[in-house]
Amino acid sequence: MKNILLEINNGIAVVTLNRPDQLNALNRETISELSGLLDELNNNKNVRALILTGAGEKAFVAGADIKEFAHFNIEEGRALSADGQTELFDKLENMSKPCIAAINGYALGGGLELAMACHIRVANTIAKLGLPEVSLGVIPGYGGTQRLTRLVGMGKALEMICTAGMIDADEALKWGLVNHVTTPEELMAKATDIATKISRQSGAAIAQALHAVRAAYQANNGGFTAEIEAFGACFGTPDFIEGTSAFMERRKPDFSNK
Ligand code: CAA
Repeated sequence: MKNILLEINNGIAVVTLNRPDQLNALNRETISELSGLLDELNNNKNVRALILTGAGEKAFVAGADIKEFAHFNIEEGRALSADGQTELFDKLENMSKPCIAAINGYALGGGLELAMACHIRVANTIAKLGLPEVSLGVIPGYGGTQRLTRLVGMGKALEMICTAGMIDADEALKWGLVNHVTTPEELMAKATDIATKISRQSGAAIAQALHAVRAAYQANNGGFTAEIEAFGACFGTPDFIEGTSAFMERRKPDFSNK
């Protein structure tokens, strides 16, 4: 794998997204590598729990790779969202082993969506969490509108999504968006401690527990499809062109609101 590091110790797989110079942004290649790796780890009887984290000092994952999708049209935007959800985000949520996000810095856009598709989240004190997509003229497209609403309720979800704002780890703890906050030095130890406790339990029972808890949310899954369509529609707007151009040109966007 080019963009992912893997270490397995005592039944715990530590998966590190490794594009630190791009703040571990999720490009096509990384999504495909991670998708294949999840299949392997789900089938590996020696692996009992996963920890996902980001390489470098700054970021867990700073989102989907904006440079890769800035020129996409409506159909390509729709496919980006639909394929990403199927290939990676739904697959992660549907794993039969618990996945812990160790959030070691920015978890923005697709990065926060990746953490939210994990089953448990631990953040360190430098973490910043947000769904800033509307600042680019687009919306969260990797399940963020649905999973954030489930985790924190509609009011807080709409505030985070509509302001494009970031919150720090302590605020995320208050919101219930993360389970624990640690110092940067203690982050992996805390995630490993949780994974170790999991690895001592019945793997068969845990797989059933994950299945049963997920079922609590499966009655109304239509929101994911609505998100895919709305995400795609954004790619046909002048605001999307302005928002993504402004990011790449390192300037503030000047939206026409069309
Ligand atoms: N996509 C592509 N490249 C990214 C990126 C992203 N999401 N986030 C950061 N990078 C790149 C930067 O372009 C820069 O690359 P170059 O050195 O080649 O120019 C490098 O990573 C370092 O980033 P910065 O220089 O910007 O670092 P900073 O410390 O000044 O700022 C930051 C950090 C606030 C996180 C800023 O990088 C940022 O705002 N990133 C974008 C965050 C974002 O909008 N995420 C949502 C993406 S859209 C999405 O995820 C859609 C979806 O739901 C499917």
